[in-house]
Amino acid sequence: YLVDKGNHRHFMEKEIHEQPEVISHTLAHYLDFTKSAAKPLDLPFDFARIERLAISACGTAYLAGLIGKYWFERYARLPVDIDIASEFRYREMPLSANDAALFISQSGETADTLASLRYCRSQGMTIGAVVNTRESTIAREADVTLPLLAGPEIGVASTKAFTCQLSVMASLAVRAAVARGTVSAEEEKALVRALSETPRYANQVLKTLDGQIETLARDLAHYRHVLYLGRDTSYPLALEGALKLKEISYIHAEGYAAGELKHGPIALIDENMPVIVIAPHDRIFEKTVSNMQEVAARGGKIILITDAKGAAQSTVKTMRTIVLPDMPEIITPIVYALPIQMLAYFTAVFMGTDVDQPRNLAKSVTVE
Ligand code: G6P
Repeated sequence: YLVDKGNHRHFMEKEIHEQPEVISHTLAHYLDFTKSAAKPLDLPFDFARIERLAISACGTAYLAGLIGKYWFERYARLPVDIDIASEFRYREMPLSANDAALFISQSGETADTLASLRYCRSQGMTIGAVVNTRESTIAREADVTLPLLAGPEIGVASTKAFTCQLSVMASLAVRAAVARGTVSAEEEKALVRALSETPRYANQVLKTLDGQIETLARDLAHYRHVLYLGRDTSYPLALEGALKLKEISYIHAEGYAAGELKHGPIALIDENMPVIVIAPHDRIFEKTVSNMQEVAARGGKIILITDAKGAAQSTVKTMRTIVLPDMPEIITPIVYALPIQMLAYFTAVFMGTDVDQPRNLAKSVTVE
């Protein structure tokens, strides 16, 4: 595998643009697009028999797991215990030897994630590793490896590994739903068809939103603090947006569940605090609109990332609105990850930071 930047300025930019292709490879590993069905997987545990699933990871991989929790609970009615690995390993949580645990890691070498795996092993659980590096310690110590087919990721800030982790989580959630009988054959088909559309939407976002997001980034580079809000699967995405921005542009950013706005961050809202709202027109879109009204009433500058339906229905005045195409609900977190990454990327470029090697950060953290 030849690792160079091609025509791109940075590895991060290259890796953002590789996403339609690597998402497609990853999904095809787990889903049968001709039959519109989740492929039967040879798993050492049975989704129909476990009562809970434990997930543990660090950084961006943790946020992929958090989105996975929404999917497993919603589609497969499977409760998920998820925690940041550095907490999970010391939390002394009661776990059942009849249940399974998943560890998500791009590198497969993160010390805290590995320690969590070993804790679950000591509790007699069955272990799955969702990793990009198949020859890694986490893969070796697991009972089953569920690969990401993202290819080598060089930029320290994770991009394509994240959307491939989401692709694996979504595929597994559909597989679990089928095994547990919580979706009908028709619903399975619809979910798999929806997922098969992800690369096409991702491509469309890259092709059509580049210029708009670059312009937005030029504005954002003038602020010192940014707040990201979202509900449902857009909540972990708000966390990921804030993480990405602070990692590479060094602008202070926080992500919040939009419903928590009134429990704290609303105190920070003024004209110096841009608020990025991630809100596809989903089941709770109206609730997010009320949160935007609260921000607008306090002079906050809103940047709304939504779809055509959402843009048409939102009554709130925004500083800018980025409009994605309408798309099936299950794929929104994967596709909306792209504008979030692009915004952090362009902002960092305007700030003149070292995008691929941000200060104080490491690609893989193999010490505690
Ligand atoms: C570091 C990287 C992040 C990554 C995290 C977890 O902090 O900078 O991009 O999400 O580690 O790494 P892993 O290899 O376990 O996914």
